[in-house]
Amino acid sequence: TRPLKVALLGCGVVGSEVARIMTTHADDLAARIGAPVELAGVAVRRPSKVREGIDPSLVTTDATALVKRGDIDVVVEVIGGIEPARSLITTAFEHGASVVSANKALIAQDGAALHAAAEQHGRDLYYEAAVAGAIPLIRPLRESLAGDKINRVMGIVNGTTNFILDKMDTTGAGYQEALDEATALGYAEADPTADVEAFDAAAKAAILAGISFHTRVRLDDVYREGMTEVTAADFASAKEMGCTIKLLAICERAADGGSVTARVHPAMIPLDHPLASVRGAYNAVFVESDAAGQLMFYGPGAGGAPTASAVLGDLVAVCRNKLGEATGPGDSAYTQLPVSPMGEV
Ligand code: HSE
Repeated sequence: TRPLKVALLGCGVVGSEVARIMTTHADDLAARIGAPVELAGVAVRRPSKVREGIDPSLVTTDATALVKRGDIDVVVEVIGGIEPARSLITTAFEHGASVVSANKALIAQDGAALHAAAEQHGRDLYYEAAVAGAIPLIRPLRESLAGDKINRVMGIVNGTTNFILDKMDTTGAGYQEALDEATALGYAEADPTADVEAFDAAAKAAILAGISFHTRVRLDDVYREGMTEVTAADFASAKEMGCTIKLLAICERAADGGSVTARVHPAMIPLDHPLASVRGAYNAVFVESDAAGQLMFYGPGAGGAPTASAVLGDLVAVCRNKLGEATGPGDSAYTQLPVSPMGEV
Protein backbone atom coordinates (compact mmCIF):
# COMPACT_ATOMS: atom_id res chain seq x y z
CA THR A 1 0.00 0.00 0.00
CA ARG A 2 1.29 3.47 -0.82
CA PRO A 3 2.20 5.65 2.15
CA LEU A 4 -0.34 8.30 3.13
CA LYS A 5 1.25 11.73 3.05
CA VAL A 6 0.79 14.14 5.91
CA ALA A 7 1.53 17.87 5.87
CA LEU A 8 2.04 19.46 9.26
CA LEU A 9 1.14 23.14 9.56
CA GLY A 10 2.80 24.52 12.68
CA CYS A 11 5.56 22.92 14.68
CA GLY A 12 5.28 24.41 18.16
CA VAL A 13 4.60 22.51 21.37
CA VAL A 14 1.85 20.33 19.83
CA GLY A 15 3.20 20.07 16.28
CA SER A 16 6.64 18.90 17.34
CA GLU A 17 5.05 16.19 19.52
CA VAL A 18 2.89 15.09 16.58
CA ALA A 19 6.01 14.83 14.39
CA ARG A 20 7.92 12.98 17.10
CA ILE A 21 5.18 10.41 17.73
CA MET A 22 4.65 9.93 13.98
CA THR A 23 8.31 8.90 13.81
CA THR A 24 8.65 6.88 17.01
CA HIS A 25 5.29 5.08 16.59
CA ALA A 26 5.46 4.76 12.81
CA ASP A 27 5.03 0.97 12.79
CA ASP A 28 2.11 1.03 15.23
CA LEU A 29 0.38 3.81 13.29
CA ALA A 30 0.85 1.89 10.03
CA ALA A 31 -0.69 -1.20 11.64
CA ARG A 32 -3.65 0.76 13.04
CA ILE A 33 -4.30 2.42 9.68
CA GLY A 34 -3.42 -0.34 7.28
CA ALA A 35 -0.83 1.78 5.42
CA PRO A 36 2.28 3.70 6.42
CA VAL A 37 1.96 7.43 7.11
CA GLU A 38 4.74 9.68 5.96
CA LEU A 39 5.50 13.20 7.11
CA ALA A 40 5.71 14.94 3.74
CA GLY A 41 6.25 18.54 4.83
CA VAL A 42 6.30 20.82 7.84
CA ALA A 43 5.30 24.46 7.42
CA VAL A 44 6.54 26.92 10.01
CA ARG A 45 7.04 30.66 10.30
CA ARG A 46 10.58 30.47 11.69
CA PRO A 47 12.60 27.43 10.54
CA SER A 48 15.32 28.21 13.10
CA LYS A 49 12.82 27.32 15.85
CA VAL A 50 12.05 23.81 14.58
CA ARG A 51 13.15 21.26 17.14
CA GLU A 52 15.77 18.62 16.58
CA GLY A 53 14.62 15.34 15.13
CA ILE A 54 12.66 16.81 12.23
CA ASP A 55 14.30 16.33 8.84
CA PRO A 56 15.28 19.91 7.79
CA SER A 57 14.54 19.07 4.14
CA LEU A 58 10.83 18.77 5.06
CA VAL A 59 10.66 22.23 6.58
CA THR A 60 9.19 25.11 4.57
CA THR A 61 7.90 28.60 5.28
CA ASP A 62 5.45 28.35 2.37
CA ALA A 63 2.41 26.65 3.91
CA THR A 64 0.20 27.52 0.94
CA ALA A 65 2.51 25.77 -1.54
CA LEU A 66 2.63 22.73 0.76
CA VAL A 67 -1.17 22.33 0.91
CA LYS A 68 -1.43 22.96 -2.84
CA ARG A 69 1.08 20.24 -3.73
CA GLY A 70 -1.72 17.88 -4.70
CA ASP A 71 -0.17 14.71 -3.26
CA ILE A 72 -1.01 15.44 0.40
CA ASP A 73 -3.61 13.09 1.93
CA VAL A 74 -4.00 14.76 5.32
CA VAL A 75 -3.20 18.26 6.51
CA VAL A 76 -2.65 18.58 10.27
CA GLU A 77 -3.26 22.18 11.30
CA VAL A 78 -1.78 23.14 14.66
CA ILE A 79 -1.07 26.80 13.97
CA GLY A 80 -4.07 28.16 15.88
CA GLY A 81 -5.87 31.47 15.30
CA ILE A 82 -8.21 32.37 12.45
CA GLU A 83 -5.89 33.33 9.59
CA PRO A 84 -3.93 31.90 7.86
CA ALA A 85 -5.32 28.65 9.32
CA ARG A 86 -8.77 29.09 7.73
CA SER A 87 -7.48 29.76 4.21
CA LEU A 88 -4.99 26.91 4.47
CA ILE A 89 -7.67 24.44 5.55
CA THR A 90 -10.00 25.52 2.73
CA THR A 91 -7.16 25.25 0.22
CA ALA A 92 -6.30 21.80 1.58
CA PHE A 93 -9.86 20.58 0.87
CA GLU A 94 -9.74 22.06 -2.63
CA HIS A 95 -6.52 20.14 -3.30
CA GLY A 96 -7.79 16.77 -2.13
CA ALA A 97 -6.61 16.61 1.48
CA SER A 98 -8.61 15.88 4.61
CA VAL A 99 -7.87 17.99 7.66
CA VAL A 100 -7.13 17.36 11.32
CA SER A 101 -7.16 20.57 13.34
CA ALA A 102 -6.58 21.49 16.98
CA ASN A 103 -7.90 25.01 16.40
CA LYS A 104 -10.75 25.77 18.81
CA ALA A 105 -10.99 29.47 17.93
CA LEU A 106 -11.39 28.72 14.23
CA ILE A 107 -13.83 25.83 14.66
CA ALA A 108 -15.93 27.86 17.14
CA GLN A 109 -16.10 30.77 14.70
CA ASP A 110 -16.23 29.09 11.29
CA GLY A 111 -16.90 25.40 11.94
CA ALA A 112 -20.09 25.41 9.84
CA ALA A 113 -18.39 26.90 6.76
CA LEU A 114 -15.41 24.57 7.12
CA HIS A 115 -17.66 21.51 7.44
CA ALA A 116 -19.53 22.64 4.33
CA ALA A 117 -16.23 23.02 2.44
CA ALA A 118 -15.10 19.55 3.57
CA GLU A 119 -18.41 18.07 2.46
CA GLN A 120 -18.32 19.83 -0.89
CA HIS A 121 -14.95 18.25 -1.65
CA GLY A 122 -15.74 14.88 -0.06
CA ARG A 123 -13.07 15.29 2.63
CA ASP A 124 -12.96 14.88 6.40
CA LEU A 125 -12.60 17.56 9.06
CA TYR A 126 -11.69 16.22 12.53
CA TYR A 127 -10.80 18.30 15.61
CA GLU A 128 -10.72 16.15 18.72
CA ALA A 129 -7.78 18.19 20.08
CA ALA A 130 -9.71 21.48 19.90
CA VAL A 131 -11.66 20.74 23.09
CA ALA A 132 -10.17 19.38 26.30
CA GLY A 133 -6.84 18.23 24.82
CA ALA A 134 -6.30 14.51 25.21
CA ILE A 135 -9.82 13.70 26.41
CA PRO A 136 -11.81 11.77 23.83
CA LEU A 137 -14.90 13.95 23.68
CA ILE A 138 -15.75 15.16 20.20
CA ARG A 139 -15.99 11.71 18.68
CA PRO A 140 -17.80 10.15 21.65
CA LEU A 141 -20.35 12.97 21.46
CA ARG A 142 -20.58 12.88 17.69
CA GLU A 143 -20.36 9.12 17.14
CA SER A 144 -20.73 6.95 20.26
CA LEU A 145 -23.74 8.95 21.50
CA ALA A 146 -25.18 9.60 18.03
CA GLY A 147 -28.11 7.29 18.73
CA ASP A 148 -28.88 8.89 22.08
CA LYS A 149 -30.26 12.35 22.91
CA ILE A 150 -27.88 14.61 24.81
CA ASN A 151 -29.64 17.09 27.07
CA ARG A 152 -26.82 18.77 28.96
CA VAL A 153 -23.04 19.04 28.74
CA MET A 154 -21.30 20.71 31.64
CA GLY A 155 -17.57 20.87 31.97
CA ILE A 156 -14.29 22.23 33.17
CA VAL A 157 -12.65 22.87 29.82
CA ASN A 158 -9.84 25.22 30.79
CA GLY A 159 -6.95 23.81 32.78
CA THR A 160 -5.31 27.11 33.66
CA THR A 161 -8.36 28.53 35.40
CA ASN A 162 -9.09 25.23 37.12
CA PHE A 163 -5.55 25.28 38.48
CA ILE A 164 -6.06 28.83 39.79
CA LEU A 165 -9.47 28.12 41.34
CA ASP A 166 -8.22 24.85 42.86
CA LYS A 167 -5.27 26.72 44.39
CA MET A 168 -7.60 29.35 45.85
CA ASP A 169 -9.86 26.61 47.20
CA THR A 170 -7.18 24.47 48.81
CA THR A 171 -4.82 27.16 50.13
CA GLY A 172 -7.06 30.17 50.71
CA ALA A 173 -4.91 32.17 48.28
CA GLY A 174 -6.35 35.19 46.47
CA TYR A 175 -6.83 35.33 42.70
CA GLN A 176 -3.60 37.23 41.95
CA GLU A 177 -1.42 34.97 44.09
CA ALA A 178 -2.87 31.84 42.48
CA LEU A 179 -2.48 33.35 39.00
CA ASP A 180 1.17 34.18 39.74
CA GLU A 181 1.79 30.56 40.67
CA ALA A 182 0.04 29.33 37.52
CA THR A 183 2.27 31.66 35.49
CA ALA A 184 5.44 30.55 37.28
CA LEU A 185 4.57 26.89 36.63
CA GLY A 186 3.93 27.58 32.94
CA TYR A 187 0.16 26.92 32.99
CA ALA A 188 -0.87 30.53 32.45
CA GLU A 189 0.53 32.48 29.54
CA ALA A 190 2.24 35.87 29.95
CA ASP A 191 -1.07 37.40 28.85
CA PRO A 192 -3.64 35.20 30.61
CA THR A 193 -6.69 37.04 29.21
CA ALA A 194 -7.92 34.23 26.93
CA ASP A 195 -8.02 31.83 29.86
CA VAL A 196 -9.12 33.98 32.82
CA GLU A 197 -11.71 35.96 30.84
CA ALA A 198 -13.02 32.62 29.54
CA PHE A 199 -12.64 33.29 25.80
CA ASP A 200 -10.90 29.90 25.51
CA ALA A 201 -13.64 28.10 27.44
CA ALA A 202 -16.37 29.93 25.48
CA ALA A 203 -14.92 28.69 22.17
CA LYS A 204 -14.91 25.16 23.53
CA ALA A 205 -18.50 25.56 24.79
CA ALA A 206 -19.61 26.65 21.31
CA ILE A 207 -18.05 23.55 19.77
CA LEU A 208 -19.50 21.21 22.41
CA ALA A 209 -23.00 22.69 22.15
CA GLY A 210 -22.97 22.46 18.36
CA ILE A 211 -21.91 18.83 18.34
CA SER A 212 -24.09 17.72 21.24
CA PHE A 213 -27.29 19.28 19.93
CA HIS A 214 -26.65 18.96 16.18
CA THR A 215 -26.99 22.66 15.63
CA ARG A 216 -24.81 25.66 14.84
CA VAL A 217 -23.50 27.50 17.88
CA ARG A 218 -20.89 30.18 17.33
CA LEU A 219 -18.55 31.81 19.80
CA ASP A 220 -20.68 35.00 19.73
CA ASP A 221 -23.73 32.99 20.87
CA VAL A 222 -22.02 31.95 24.11
CA TYR A 223 -22.61 33.96 27.29
CA ARG A 224 -19.19 34.52 28.81
CA GLU A 225 -18.05 35.64 32.23
CA GLY A 226 -14.44 35.27 33.36
CA MET A 227 -13.20 34.26 36.81
CA THR A 228 -11.02 37.25 37.75
CA GLU A 229 -13.58 38.53 40.25
CA VAL A 230 -13.74 35.33 42.31
CA THR A 231 -12.33 36.01 45.78
CA ALA A 232 -11.08 34.00 48.75
CA ALA A 233 -14.25 35.15 50.54
CA ASP A 234 -16.41 33.58 47.79
CA PHE A 235 -14.68 30.27 48.41
CA ALA A 236 -15.29 30.58 52.16
CA SER A 237 -19.03 31.17 51.53
CA ALA A 238 -19.17 28.30 49.06
CA LYS A 239 -17.53 26.00 51.59
CA GLU A 240 -20.13 26.91 54.23
CA MET A 241 -22.78 25.73 51.76
CA GLY A 242 -20.97 22.46 51.02
CA CYS A 243 -19.85 23.71 47.61
CA THR A 244 -16.78 24.76 45.68
CA ILE A 245 -16.41 27.16 42.74
CA LYS A 246 -15.50 26.06 39.22
CA LEU A 247 -15.42 27.86 35.90
CA LEU A 248 -18.04 25.84 34.06
CA ALA A 249 -19.01 25.63 30.43
CA ILE A 250 -22.69 24.70 30.42
CA CYS A 251 -24.56 23.68 27.26
CA GLU A 252 -28.24 22.86 27.59
CA ARG A 253 -31.13 21.90 25.41
CA ALA A 254 -34.43 23.52 26.45
CA ALA A 255 -36.97 21.03 27.79
CA ASP A 256 -39.26 21.67 24.80
CA GLY A 257 -36.31 21.00 22.46
CA GLY A 258 -36.89 24.32 20.69
CA SER A 259 -33.68 26.07 21.71
CA VAL A 260 -30.22 25.59 23.19
CA THR A 261 -28.03 27.69 25.45
CA ALA A 262 -24.28 27.80 25.92
CA ARG A 263 -22.61 29.77 28.68
CA VAL A 264 -19.37 29.97 30.62
CA HIS A 265 -19.12 31.46 34.10
CA PRO A 266 -17.87 30.71 37.60
CA ALA A 267 -20.43 28.48 39.31
CA MET A 268 -20.97 26.96 42.74
CA ILE A 269 -21.01 23.23 42.58
CA PRO A 270 -21.81 20.79 45.41
CA LEU A 271 -18.74 19.02 46.77
CA ASP A 272 -20.29 15.64 46.04
CA HIS A 273 -20.66 16.40 42.32
CA PRO A 274 -17.98 14.56 40.26
CA LEU A 275 -16.81 17.86 38.73
CA ALA A 276 -15.98 19.24 42.20
CA SER A 277 -13.11 16.76 42.58
CA VAL A 278 -11.32 17.80 39.37
CA ARG A 279 -8.03 19.13 40.64
CA GLY A 280 -5.15 21.14 39.23
CA ALA A 281 -4.99 21.74 35.49
CA TYR A 282 -7.19 18.77 34.60
CA ASN A 283 -10.34 19.02 32.52
CA ALA A 284 -13.57 17.05 32.85
CA VAL A 285 -16.88 17.07 31.04
CA PHE A 286 -20.12 15.74 32.51
CA VAL A 287 -22.72 14.66 29.97
CA GLU A 288 -26.39 13.88 30.59
CA SER A 289 -28.41 12.07 27.96
CA ASP A 290 -31.75 10.30 27.66
CA ALA A 291 -30.53 6.73 27.37
CA ALA A 292 -26.96 6.67 28.73
CA GLY A 293 -27.80 8.79 31.77
CA GLN A 294 -24.75 10.46 33.25
CA LEU A 295 -21.23 10.15 31.84
CA MET A 296 -17.99 11.86 32.78
CA PHE A 297 -14.95 12.36 30.59
CA TYR A 298 -11.78 13.26 32.47
CA GLY A 299 -8.11 13.88 31.68
CA PRO A 300 -5.38 16.32 30.71
CA GLY A 301 -6.84 19.19 28.69
CA ALA A 302 -3.62 20.75 27.46
CA GLY A 303 0.08 20.16 26.88
CA GLY A 304 2.10 19.01 23.89
CA ALA A 305 1.94 15.24 24.23
CA PRO A 306 -1.68 14.98 25.49
CA THR A 307 -2.92 17.25 22.70
CA ALA A 308 -0.81 15.34 20.17
CA SER A 309 -2.51 12.14 21.36
CA ALA A 310 -5.87 13.53 20.24
CA VAL A 311 -4.42 14.81 16.95
CA LEU A 312 -2.91 11.41 16.16
CA GLY A 313 -6.17 9.63 16.98
CA ASP A 314 -7.87 11.86 14.42
CA LEU A 315 -5.06 11.24 11.96
CA VAL A 316 -5.62 7.48 12.23
CA ALA A 317 -9.39 7.91 11.77
CA VAL A 318 -9.00 10.19 8.76
CA CYS A 319 -6.43 7.89 7.15
CA ARG A 320 -8.73 4.89 7.65
CA ASN A 321 -11.56 6.79 6.01
CA LYS A 322 -9.24 7.65 3.14
CA LEU A 323 -8.50 3.99 2.63
CA GLY A 324 -12.21 3.22 2.69
CA GLU A 325 -12.05 1.46 6.03
CA ALA A 326 -14.67 3.65 7.66
CA THR A 327 -15.94 0.70 9.65
CA GLY A 328 -12.70 0.52 11.62
CA PRO A 329 -9.56 -1.54 11.41
CA GLY A 330 -9.73 -5.05 10.01
CA ASP A 331 -8.18 -8.13 11.55
CA SER A 332 -4.78 -7.32 10.02
CA ALA A 333 -4.49 -4.37 12.42
CA TYR A 334 -4.15 -6.82 15.33
CA THR A 335 -1.11 -8.82 16.37
CA GLN A 336 -1.13 -11.64 18.90
CA LEU A 337 0.78 -10.73 22.03
CA PRO A 338 1.24 -13.27 24.84
CA VAL A 339 -1.71 -13.01 27.23
CA SER A 340 -0.90 -13.44 30.88
CA PRO A 341 -3.95 -14.07 33.09
CA MET A 342 -2.27 -12.92 36.29
CA GLY A 343 -0.33 -9.94 34.99
CA GLU A 344 3.09 -11.64 34.76
CA VAL A 345 4.32 -9.43 31.91
N1 HSE B 1 -5.04 27.49 27.84
C1 HSE B 1 -5.79 26.29 27.69
C2 HSE B 1 -6.06 25.69 29.05
C3 HSE B 1 -5.03 25.34 26.82
O1 HSE B 1 -5.51 26.18 30.05
O2 HSE B 1 -6.84 24.77 29.18
C4 HSE B 1 -5.85 24.30 26.15
O3 HSE B 1 -6.77 24.83 25.26
